[in-house]
Order: sequence, then C-alpha cells, then structure tokens
Amino acid sequence: MTQPVSRAKIDIQGLSKEFGSFTALRPTNLQIPKGEFLTLLGPSGSGKTTLLQMVAGLLDPTRGKLVVDGQDWTFRPVNERGVGLVFQHYALFPHMTVEENVAFPLKMRKVTGEELRRRVVETLDKVQLGPFTHRFPRELSGGQQQRVALARCFVFRPEIILMDEPLGALDKALRESMQLEIRGLHREFGTTLIYVTHDQEEALVMSDRICVMNHAQVEQIGTPHEIYADPETIFAASFIGHSNLLKGKLVGKSDGGLHMLDTPVGRLAGKLRARDKHAKDLVLVVRPEQLRVGPSPDARHNELSATLRDVVYVGSENRLLLTLADGTEISASDKSDPSDLPKQGEEICFHWRSERARIVS
Ligand SMILES: Nc1ncnc2c1ncn2[C@@H]1O[C@H](COP(=O)(O)OP(=O)(O)OP(=O)(O)O)[C@@H](O)[C@H]1O
Ligand SMILES: [Mg+2]
Repeated sequence: MTQPVSRAKIDIQGLSKEFGSFTALRPTNLQIPKGEFLTLLGPSGSGKTTLLQMVAGLLDPTRGKLVVDGQDWTFRPVNERGVGLVFQHYALFPHMTVEENVAFPLKMRKVTGEELRRRVVETLDKVQLGPFTHRFPRELSGGQQQRVALARCFVFRPEIILMDEPLGALDKALRESMQLEIRGLHREFGTTLIYVTHDQEEALVMSDRICVMNHAQVEQIGTPHEIYADPETIFAASFIGHSNLLKGKLVGKSDGGLHMLDTPVGRLAGKLRARDKHAKDLVLVVRPEQLRVGPSPDARHNELSATLRDVVYVGSENRLLLTLADGTEISASDKSDPSDLPKQGEEICFHWRSERARIVS
C-alpha cells in the first residue's frame, strides 16, 4: 500500500524523536500522496503529536529525514513551510474580529483589496460564520471559535494542513457535523491533510487512510476498511471497532490459505499473516457482525456453542452477549426481530466464515 517515493507529497523517512533517554517516536516511515487525508490514530502518549509537530517544524527530529515535494524539510523553519495548522485550542487573536482573524493569513501573504475581501467572505460562508463576521472570539461558542480557526487555515489555501485533535473540546453532535465539514473542505481544496485523533469513529468517518499508532510506533496503515476488516495486530483489532478475541496456539499447516488455532474452546480456522507464523501468542479475531446464530452450514465455517447471557437492543441492531465454555465473553450483532431470538440463559450454537477471522499477534 505504500506509494512510490517520487509520488509522495510528504515522505517521512525514519523520523524518530527522543527526549533524553525516553523514546517518544521510534523510527517511522510514512509516504503521504498529494491530496490524501491521513489520520494518526492512537491512544494518549502514542506519539501522534510528536510526529505531527516534526512535520510542522515545531519540533526537531532526533534522527531521520522529512522530504516534501522532493525537498529536504527536516530542519526547515516553521515559517518557511507555509503549512496550515489547527490545534485543539484555537489560538485566535482575541483583539481581532472573526473577519480580521480570517483575513490575517492573507494580509501576511500580501493579498489586498477586493481579492482579500472576496476570499474572506467566501471562506466564512463555507464554515457558516457569515452572520458572525464582526464578533470577537470571546463572543463565540467553542464550536464557532473552532470554525474560525478552520476558516483561518483554509483561507490561504495551504497545500498541507496539519490538525491536532481540532474537535477535542466540542460535544459529540457538534463534533460529528464538523467532521463532515472538514472532510468537505478537504475535498474541495484537494489539500494534503494529516489529522490527529484518539477517536476511532472520527478516524473511520474522515480518513482516506488511517495510521494506527501505539507505544511510539506505527502498528498498521491502511484505508478505514482495510484496518477494520483486516487488522494486522491485536492492538489494531481491539482499538478499532468491537472485536472478539480468542487466544490460542497454531497447529498444523495451512489449508486453502487458512491456518488452524487451538483455543480453549476448540480448533478454529482463520487467516494468518506470514510474519506471524512463528509468533508464540496468537489471537483469533472476529468481528461481532460476522457471527450468525445457528449451526455451521459447511466446513468453511467455524462453529461454537455458548450461553446467551444477555441481549442488548442498541437501536439499529441487537447485541448478543455470549459466554463460551471456558468463560470467555464475546458478542454478536444481529438484526432480527428481538422476539425471534433465543432467550437469556439458553445454550446456543453460532458460526462464522473462517476467512473472515484473522489470526494476529
Ligand atoms: N517535551 C517533552 N519532553 C519529554 N517527553 C515528552 C515531551 N513531549 C512529549 N513527550 C512524551 O512523548 C510521548 C508521546 O507524546 P505525544 O504528545 O506525541 O503523544 P500523543 O499520542 O499526542 O498523546 P495525546 O493523545 O495524549 O495527545 C508521551 O509519553 C509524552 O509524555
Ligand atoms: Mg497529542
């Protein structure tokens, strides 16, 4: 999935960061093509901000190289990068109105007169701030202030925009509408955008590709669908979406591309990546929506029995909470009418297609 180096807009080559003896980011390689929306997703302390700040020029790397449009940017000063930045705390100029805040980056770039006015008005309209042009930041809500920050960034049409948890301070409903707004602006301007979040749903909704980070390194890079359907590590599987995890040991040879894992509840088949062939502790991962109630129709399926502990109705579906013979708890999602489902405490049989399961380490 990596792009040829020559086509990358941003080419991160072995970039790492140490603070004294502490490693904030291990050597990282990442190629970001022009116009891509790439999200750095990971828990607190995984190195997301560290990586973003090195791309921004706010932090010097310990080792490695940053190449943008074929030029060495590793130590280029921040003000010579012309990159748009949006952070969680919007840092608007408090003594300037909304309009003046948004005009500022254009004035810095010597845009004047009608052109200046037109671009400010256009951008404010795009983020629905038309009615607020003459207010000061303190007279705006958090969401409105963050819209000003977005407008101030997009107004000068930077080729690269870096955003660090820009919606972190907003409530859920506002965050969701702003996610779509940012996505729309990105599409419209064709900007190359790196976005940092620890919110997996946000990453799935917004990104062309997601870079999953944990413990100062990249765990997996791929499209939202690839990461969800094909997690490569236990961490990626459990951090994004719901996963059922069944521990086991590899047995025998692969059969039709599938490997067998001996688990406490029986032998189960799944897909294994070559690099995990010799891993000691393996886990079979299967998403709740792959599970079907009832016995397995054929040998291409895994089958297990379990006690139905509870059925939780979550609006769009039912979530079946199941307990396996060894006490492991797993869940299945099911769209049938709740009255058609087995009852609490019943022993039920369920199955899933073997190739939908991943064996990861
Ligand atoms: N200036 C610094 N000096 C020492 N350690 C630092 C410094 N800046 C960051 N770190 C450490 O580096 C690690 C990665 O930090 P970073 O800010 O990149 O995490 P993050 O993924 O952005 O987390 P969050 O989601 O909480 O913002 C953390 O353990 C952090 O404490
Ligand atoms: Mg951070």
